[in-house]
Amino acid sequence: MKRLSRLLSLIPAITLASAQTVPIYGQCGGIGFTGSTICATGSACVVANPYYSQCIPGASTSSVSSISVTSTTGSGTTTSTSTSTSPTATVSGFVKTSGTQFTLNDEPFTVVGANSYWVGLMNYDTADMNTAFADIAATGATTVRTWGFNEVTTPDGVAYYQSWSGSTPTVNTGANGLENFDNVVAVAKAHGLRLIVTLTNNWYDLYGGMDVYVNQLLGQGSPHDFFYTNTTVIAAYKDYVKTFVSRYVNEPGILGWELANEPRCLGSTSATSGTCTISTISTWAAEISAYIKSIDANHLVAIGDEGFFNDPGNPIYVYQGSLGIDFDANLNISTLDFGTLHLYPDSWGEPANPFGTQWIEDHATAMLASNKPVILEEFGSTSNQSAVYATWYSTVLSTGLTGDLIWQAGSDLTNGPTPNDGYAVYPGSDVYVLDTQHAAALKARDGSA
Ligand SMILES: *[C@@H]1O[C@H](CO)[C@@H](O)[C@H](O)[C@H]1NC(C)=O
Ligand SMILES: *[C@@H]1O[C@H](CO)[C@@H](O)[C@H](O)[C@H]1NC(C)=O
Ligand SMILES: *[C@@H]1O[C@H](CO)[C@@H](O)[C@H](O)[C@H]1NC(C)=O
Repeated sequence: MKRLSRLLSLIPAITLASAQTVPIYGQCGGIGFTGSTICATGSACVVANPYYSQCIPGASTSSVSSISVTSTTGSGTTTSTSTSTSPTATVSGFVKTSGTQFTLNDEPFTVVGANSYWVGLMNYDTADMNTAFADIAATGATTVRTWGFNEVTTPDGVAYYQSWSGSTPTVNTGANGLENFDNVVAVAKAHGLRLIVTLTNNWYDLYGGMDVYVNQLLGQGSPHDFFYTNTTVIAAYKDYVKTFVSRYVNEPGILGWELANEPRCLGSTSATSGTCTISTISTWAAEISAYIKSIDANHLVAIGDEGFFNDPGNPIYVYQGSLGIDFDANLNISTLDFGTLHLYPDSWGEPANPFGTQWIEDHATAMLASNKPVILEEFGSTSNQSAVYATWYSTVLSTGLTGDLIWQAGSDLTNGPTPNDGYAVYPGSDVYVLDTQHAAALKARDGSA
């Protein structure tokens, strides 16, 4: 069905009749919008923010809508229907913290779900976003972590959020920029999901990140860690953060902001000042988190780091304090609401277990000492996944660690499967089933809905 309608839309004569109708989840209004405001039958135009109104199914008549989800799999196209509550009905209020728990309207709120860095970065249309979020929501997830950045020097048509011309950055507020991110938020909410949004990246991969700021502002090949200290760079990053965060201050679909994915002293290249220490990144984290709080008092803030400990002399390097992160010290920063840890024993040269369960236990101890929530917000094992994840989930449950988000969600979309780095979890797989059981168990532990 979806493939067919796409083909038809390429033929102008056939689309003429329906050109005036905005499809479900399409944009129907907002500042600067010049298109049609007539929503497809069964949906109504709902204001998400001043920049974006969207056709939401059933919005005008009922608080519950039936979303028909079509997904293409290797064996053909299947259609399933899932029932989901509309954004205005289910996603309201801001997630807060109380001790080591998250809360929503003073009730326990369980953070469990997945990472989907790709959902707002690969030109997926709202129908594909809908499938992606439906697949995640069907596990019982409440939360999705995603990228709120893509720094480009040469826009190539893919969704991006900031482009650089020499040392001048321009935030992309257009249809393949922040308006696209508006879609991400709206479709997530349609499935009752909230987003943790990460605002830059330690790693120079396809999406730019810290090194783009450093290279464009200070010269190609400048030290990665100047991102944390150079006042020109800090000002540029704050400008971006301000534009992005301001747009969503009143948006309940955002759970929280993260300063960066996996900040470390070293980046993807060897360019380093040689002077970066733990205090370099914690000073930066304190400044930027306070800045976000000054713009947005509604949302939670975390660093987005891997949770490295500072225990010099420990035989395991992620405990040694050599990477620029001190998990315990950072949890002391008052403008940071929760802590995060990542867990990749294969890349760290450790066995999945007992290293993995110990890593979770040690962070649960730090969580109790700080009295703030701590989440295992990325984890992956390249082999024996179901058995290994079962032990990690069991440890999360028994230690009281606040929550977890698996790396990473996978879906079969119109043009094929979403990116798979060896960790992607597609519907129907053993790990997907395990995730579903785990989400239910975590909610039962927390006494959350
Ligand atoms: C930031 O980098 C610029 C360009 O290299 C330099 O002129 C300036 O002194 C640096 N500022 C700080 C605080 O490091
Ligand atoms: C965190 O703050 C507490 C209370 O001020 C202090 O006792 C503790 O040493 C701090 N921890 C770290 C690692 O800085
Ligand atoms: C798979 O992981 C489980 C849990 O850590 C472990 O007990 C088991 O030995 C592992 N199996 C293999 C083949 O690695």
